[in-house]
Amino acid sequence: MELAKLSLVLLSIALCAVAQAQSQNVFEEPQQAWTVFHHPIRRVAVVGAGPSGLQAAAKLIEHNFTVRLFEAAEHPGGIWHYSEETPLREAYPDKPIEHAADIPIKIPATRYYCEGDNGLTLDDRWRQHWRPRPMWDNLHANSPKASTELPDVQYDRDAPWVLSQHAIQRHVRSYASHHCLNSNDRCPAAGPPVVSYSTRVEKVEKDTKEHKWILTLRRLERLRESNRILEEWWTETFDAVVLATGPYVSAHVPDIEGIVDWSKAKEGERYSMCHSQSYRHPERYENKTILLVGASISASEIARDIGPFVHRLLASVRDTPNRPGVRQRSLTRFPAITEFIPEIASFEPLQKHGDGIRKGKIHLVNGSVMQGVDEIILATGFQGYSLYPPNTSGLPLLHFLRSNPCRTTWRPQNLYFTGHWIPDSTIAYTNRRPWTLGRYQSYAFAKVWEGSARLPSPEQIEKQEHGSASRSYWLDMWLAEAVFRRFVSWLNDASLEHGGRFVQPPPIENLELFRYYTVVHLNNTVRLEDLDMPSLLSKQSATEDAWNEMVYEDADW
Ligand SMILES: Cc1cc2nc3c(=O)[nH]c(=O)nc-3n(C[C@H](O)[C@H](O)[C@H](O)COP(=O)(O)OP(=O)(O)OC[C@H]3O[C@@H](n4cnc5c(N)ncnc54)[C@H](O)[C@@H]3O)c2cc1C
Ligand SMILES: NC(=O)c1ccc[n+]([C@@H]2O[C@H](COP(=O)([O-])OP(=O)(O)OC[C@H]3O[C@@H](n4cnc5c(N)ncnc54)[C@H](OP(=O)(O)O)[C@@H]3O)[C@@H](O)[C@H]2O)c1
Ligand SMILES: *[C@@H]1O[C@H](CO)[C@@H](O)[C@H](O)[C@H]1NC(C)=O
Ligand SMILES: *[C@@H]1O[C@H](CO)[C@@H](O)[C@H](O)[C@H]1NC(C)=O
Ligand SMILES: *[C@@H]1O[C@H](CO)[C@@H](O)[C@H](O)[C@H]1NC(C)=O
Ligand SMILES: *[C@@H]1O[C@H](CO)[C@@H](O)[C@H](O)[C@H]1NC(C)=O
Ligand SMILES: *[C@@H]1O[C@H](CO)[C@@H](O)[C@H](O)[C@H]1NC(C)=O
Repeated sequence: MELAKLSLVLLSIALCAVAQAQSQNVFEEPQQAWTVFHHPIRRVAVVGAGPSGLQAAAKLIEHNFTVRLFEAAEHPGGIWHYSEETPLREAYPDKPIEHAADIPIKIPATRYYCEGDNGLTLDDRWRQHWRPRPMWDNLHANSPKASTELPDVQYDRDAPWVLSQHAIQRHVRSYASHHCLNSNDRCPAAGPPVVSYSTRVEKVEKDTKEHKWILTLRRLERLRESNRILEEWWTETFDAVVLATGPYVSAHVPDIEGIVDWSKAKEGERYSMCHSQSYRHPERYENKTILLVGASISASEIARDIGPFVHRLLASVRDTPNRPGVRQRSLTRFPAITEFIPEIASFEPLQKHGDGIRKGKIHLVNGSVMQGVDEIILATGFQGYSLYPPNTSGLPLLHFLRSNPCRTTWRPQNLYFTGHWIPDSTIAYTNRRPWTLGRYQSYAFAKVWEGSARLPSPEQIEKQEHGSASRSYWLDMWLAEAVFRRFVSWLNDASLEHGGRFVQPPPIENLELFRYYTVVHLNNTVRLEDLDMPSLLSKQSATEDAWNEMVYEDADW
């Protein structure tokens, strides 16, 4: 044990040294060609009040920027803002992620909506605006506590390693309150408010003459007494913008033959097929035969949740070669009653849509036909990166491309490892996992914009043929330890040269915690030997794929 600890310490020292070397590597010739801003950065907008946006806003406020935080929902939390409300029904088949279609020609503008206007109930209009999250009541984190924690606030000392979403939600809201960023907060009491909830950023455009960003904003308010919704449109202007709009909201519905027909089937008021984004509670599946489509985290975790209630549980898992480690783990987490069946080839057209799908025939790719399913849950993942991304016409980054059809890796393009956009570093994107990186990333936003850290200019990046460096750096981030240390050394180098506070890397115990977590909770599906420091270090310069295989996907742990 002692020996193990000692070797961890030694490795971490070695890692810091390598981190220093690496940071010099990327930013060699520091005396030339820094990014220069047209004017000092003072007003900054943060879009999104999830764990990333909250951290960015808090840090920028600490650094005396004038901050505005915009959030579509009524409360902070991002994905972790759980609600009984469910999203509007997903499109069958997939539709591209939408932008606001009806931005008024003259802004500011005010509109009132009544029940049924434009074919939408008030309730639907409300849900369309804030988009309830793909989060269920009994969800538990698949990341260890140590990497699912915001600074300045704490979980209960005795909170389990595997946190419930309720505990996480409270934690994120505590952080928001602590920094005066919760929905009713106003600090200082006089002066314009920082937060604007129920407000969607519909458009982000650059005023190229003034070198400012113009945000088009839409806020909804439910006027319960008159049973209407008030909609306000206005614009605000900023020197810089943080886009913390998060992943995972536009549901992916696979284009299986016959799925559109089956998507119309109902039993009473209830659709017989839905996407996992609207799953909330297991009780409604009592005594039913349920077919889950998908083999990843949503599929296995919903299976565990409904397993004790259902009569029969089927899971359609397609034949995917080289399923990554954490998804293999998902396959081992389905409850014992699960009957695995092959991929679905087609759904045979139904006679009518009013009495469910029980009599409907499902053709499997192995040639068999099955019947008797009461409900289908599509745990088939998400298609887009952001919740209603604002129309940023010209900014290519909001949808990260699906680079490999077998995997859901979203790759940002043209970003510095800090998250600043290379062509115009007055825009910055937050990373999402692990959250713990956010504290360093938001410090980097503040330092670059106040001038106490410098980014190399795009020309310099080109010159160094490091076009891909930012990308591999980004991927590296998932490797919390190695990446954190590199980030820390970059920030501290900058403070040494240009002033500012020094930061500490996360405690070394986290590394050990993560190792235990890997063995016990991830059931060894992330190979321990791949987490050894020499192995990490030797792979740092390797291809992106090596990184993928090692940590497997940002998204999966
Ligand atoms: C079911 C599920 C389970 C997960 N489990 C884990 C886990 O166990 N551990 C883990 O580390 N991660 C997990 N994640 C990943 C999760 O995304 C991150 O934990 C975290 O929420 C990312 O934070 P974020 O602030 O970047 O984005 P989000 O939490 O998604 O927040 C983004 C916010 O931006 C707002 N927004 C978006 N567009 C606009 C706009 N145009 N205008 C105004 N506001 C906007 C949204 O309303 C939202 O509140 C899970 C994700 C899902 C879907
Ligand atoms: N904390 C938690 O417990 C928890 C719970 C849910 C989600 N999450 C997070 O949320 C994110 C999204 O997870 P997710 O499981 O919703 O999505 P996902 O990881 O993208 O998985 C989508 C699944 O759908 C399958 N699929 C897609 N089309 C299919 C088709 N036509 N037929 C059969 N299967 C098909 C994929 O199959 P292949 O595997 O064959 O490609 C894959 O298994 C992840 O980051 C995850 O960590 C966390
Ligand atoms: C912010 O302003 C206050 C008051 O002027 C000052 O004391 C503080 O040092 C400033 N913070 C930073 C990070 O510059
Ligand atoms: C489910 O089945 C059990 C045993 O047959 C029965 O006691 C229970 O009432 C049923 N529940 C529902 C909701 O039908
Ligand atoms: C196809 O898969 C189903 C479900 O696993 C199985 O019952 C059936 O026997 C298989 N059919 C053939 C032809 O292999
Ligand atoms: C986005 O904005 C651009 C420029 O204003 C406009 O031409 C385009 O139609 C908008 N796209 C959508 C989907 O609204
Ligand atoms: C761990 O994984 C193995 C296969 O790799 C599997 O047999 C076992 O059931 C899993 N254990 C748990 C607790 O998930």
